[in-house]
Amino acid sequence: MNVREELLRMLEEGTPVSGEQIARKLGVSRNAVWKAVDRLRKDGFGIEGGTNRGYRLTRKPDRLEAEAITGYLTTREIGRALEVYDEIDSTNSRAKMLAARGAAQGTTVVADCQTMGRGRRGRSFFSPEHSGIYFSMILRPDCTPEKAAMITSLAAVAVARAIEKVAETEIRIKWVNDLYIGGKKVCGILSEAGTDMESGQLNYVVVGIGVNVQPMDFPEELRNIATSIGNETGGAVDRNRLTAEICNETESLLGQLESGEFMAENRRRSNVIGREVLVLEGGKQYTAQALDIDGEGKLILRRDGEILHLGFGEVSLKPEGKGWD
Ligand code: BTN
Repeated sequence: MNVREELLRMLEEGTPVSGEQIARKLGVSRNAVWKAVDRLRKDGFGIEGGTNRGYRLTRKPDRLEAEAITGYLTTREIGRALEVYDEIDSTNSRAKMLAARGAAQGTTVVADCQTMGRGRRGRSFFSPEHSGIYFSMILRPDCTPEKAAMITSLAAVAVARAIEKVAETEIRIKWVNDLYIGGKKVCGILSEAGTDMESGQLNYVVVGIGVNVQPMDFPEELRNIATSIGNETGGAVDRNRLTAEICNETESLLGQLESGEFMAENRRRSNVIGREVLVLEGGKQYTAQALDIDGEGKLILRRDGEILHLGFGEVSLKPEGKGWD
């Protein structure tokens, strides 16, 4: 008899069952039941309760699958060539390799988990299994490097719209690549460009997006600064649909890259404008007042009476009466 399958069958009946009832029915120890519950949780099943309260199945894992993602796509290019992995080192690394080998505009790499997920400034990106979506799109925009630099701002609006389509929540953008629900980060974006060594022309941009989707347990160091859609809304989200909606929104916004029209929404969603921020720029660090975001996606700052337009760098928000996050 397979304890896992029998346990699942009992949980799927819907009525909460105690560890003792399960153990008796399956003729195994309570420890064996606890271990099977723990394994199912690790595999993405939502199981509420504990040994003395009775177990209840609250969610089944949603497997990321090419066919399911494609079923929600309305795009012409993005996501049409699609690689889906259960595990990969980094979808950005894979997409960069494909782009260098000539993969078409819109080619997308999606993974259920990453072993070496990369964030900005050489940081790692927490990418556990069955929890989020980690994916990278290859874009080959025919534009100036200045316009290409706005792709992260464009993607931020696209992801915000897509999340709000699939979940009851409100997304804010922390310039330039983080999405927030309330005071916590729910998504990070890492755009990496490849240029032609001879002509110096832009060859491709890989836009890497990591969204914390299902209810998640974060490691201690992230607990106060990161969240997931599920942690905030309590509801389950179809990760295949969310992946496709991000592709759909990105493709429809790409038509605005030249006009920069999407920047109005980016500004409207900003949780930085009007706040005091800590700026990390290269090796420098200083505080400034964030005034606005300009038409090129640069953050307009007032620092000691001087107005600056920040194109690259990172800002932290100062929560009321607290230190920097
Ligand atoms: C950040 O928060 O600093 C950016 C995080 C970007 C993470 C995504 S997950 C998919 C893609 N693959 C990576 O290795 N990184 C990006």
